[in-house]
Amino acid sequence: MSKELVQIFDTTLRDGEQVPGCKLDAPQKLEIAARLDELGVDVIEAGFPVSSPGDFKAVAQVAALVKNATVCGLTRSVQKDIEVAAQALKAAKRPRIHTGIGTSDSHIKYKFNSTREQIIERAVAAVSYAKTFVEDVEFYAEDAGRTDNEYLARVCEAVIKAGATVLNIPDTTGYCLPAEYGAKIKYLKENVTGIEKAILSCHCHNDLGLATANSIEGVINGARQIECTINGIGERAGNTSLEEVVMVLRQHPHLNLDSRVNSKLLYSTSQMVSHHMGMIVQPNKAIVGANAFAHSSGIHQDGVIKNRETYEIIDPADVGVNASSIILTARSGRAALAYRAKLVGYELTKTQLDIVYEQFLVFADRKKEVLDDDIHEIVKLSPIDR
Ligand code: KIV
Ligand code: ZN
Repeated sequence: MSKELVQIFDTTLRDGEQVPGCKLDAPQKLEIAARLDELGVDVIEAGFPVSSPGDFKAVAQVAALVKNATVCGLTRSVQKDIEVAAQALKAAKRPRIHTGIGTSDSHIKYKFNSTREQIIERAVAAVSYAKTFVEDVEFYAEDAGRTDNEYLARVCEAVIKAGATVLNIPDTTGYCLPAEYGAKIKYLKENVTGIEKAILSCHCHNDLGLATANSIEGVINGARQIECTINGIGERAGNTSLEEVVMVLRQHPHLNLDSRVNSKLLYSTSQMVSHHMGMIVQPNKAIVGANAFAHSSGIHQDGVIKNRETYEIIDPADVGVNASSIILTARSGRAALAYRAKLVGYELTKTQLDIVYEQFLVFADRKKEVLDDDIHEIVKLSPIDR
């Protein structure tokens, strides 16, 4: 059975760029946009055009540059925002306006001092207005994670009637549990008249570390777009990490879901974004962290040297990482030392290895990590015939 494709909507340049200190200049934005297009994402959210002249210009430049992906601009449910976004997207081959409004009772009362009925009217007006500029209009129901499902279904129904092509269901505060978020998507699939005319989209924040799990539950329950960022960057604890959702779908074929992303470009894209944003990738970050394919305990090293799959579920080459690494520390055993020694030119017999290993432990107890140069030194100091 052929797999169903999940659209990957990258918002590194919009939600990701909202991170304090991560501001990008125009050439950096363009370089990242070109790379995202090459990576194979379906949609690039390039910015929030009305927010500043610089953002307007960046969205317009990205729109003109991108060859394959849909280019999207964010707006509030405000006419001026929509007009400015439409203008910024003029040169896009596939333009999309992403408009929306808060739908949780808390947003309605405190942010808008409004009522549920008035919010539906504003949502419909925004989508209808956006449709006068572009065919592809995505609607976001901000704080959908904390919005009552019955009301959310009414909002979705109304904006589909107004022409929305994609319904974004953001867990804006990262509050939902995976089962709860999945049930929300299922409820909308089953209770919104006209839902077959639109794609449901997951936009999950990571405040409780559940963004990836929630997005995956969303697609298991019928959503067909995931909004995410490279390295999971974004407001507060971040957004869903693109590399994680792409690889979850790829590593679990029984889900029958996949994306068009070329996973071999994931590592280099992660490095590019980290470099331009000045934001280091935590070493234990899944898929792209420095330790994602590094093995340091003796038991694990022995297992990986015998067969990589003993402790790795992903082939590093599939995400563009050169090779698994065997890190030499005081926890390493003879197998790891022999392996690394061979890589730098020493084929040790069993007796030689026993002797070199004694010397290695002396070194390793003094240093956090034993490097290639240290191996040469260790072998030199070991009383073996060579
Ligand atoms: O988190 C959120 O709700 C958003 C919307 C503006 C889409 O980023
Ligand atoms: Zn967001």
